Amino acid sequence: MVWESGRALVTGGASFIGSHLVDELLERTTQIRIVDDLSSGKLENIQDHIDAGSVEFHKADLLTPGVAEDLGFLVVSPPRFGRPLAGPSPPALASSRDPFPTS
Ligand SMILES: NC(=O)c1ccc[n+]([C@@H]2O[C@H](COP(=O)([O-])OP(=O)(O)OC[C@H]3O[C@@H](n4cnc5c(N)ncnc54)[C@H](O)[C@@H]3O)[C@@H](O)[C@H]2O)c1
Repeated sequence: MVWESGRALVTGGASFIGSHLVDELLERTTQIRIVDDLSSGKLENIQDHIDAGSVEFHKADLLTPGVAEDLGFLVVSPPRFGRPLAGPSPPALASSRDPFPTS
């Protein structure tokens, strides 16, 4: 697999499946940001990676207004549905904002 950006944003990354996704992504990239409100996920699933400094963890509820934007998501309002959707930026809609700013 060719991984060009070298960065990944994993929502629900403290969950059973999410944490295994993080394990796999760590084989392919070095910058991983995890967002999870720990409502059902467990910090222990990713604690080793946090302790090793190999992931950036944010405990946050993605349904809280402003949180998605602050964490590097593009929030769009599809005209057909008329309500905001928060989610990872699809390539065609990607904003110019770097979700992993260096400063
Ligand atoms: N086979 C097994 O051993 C095993 C173990 C665990 C789970 N499972 C099954 O796998 C499936 C998936 O379970 P899972 O635990 O990986 O997935 P999940 O859907 O429970 O994980 C969702 C993750 O998103 C987080 N989250 C939820 N709302 C959020 C919000 N608003 N903002 C930020 N984060 C939020 C939760 O804290 C959690 O970490 C389930 O069906 C479960 O029963 C199987």
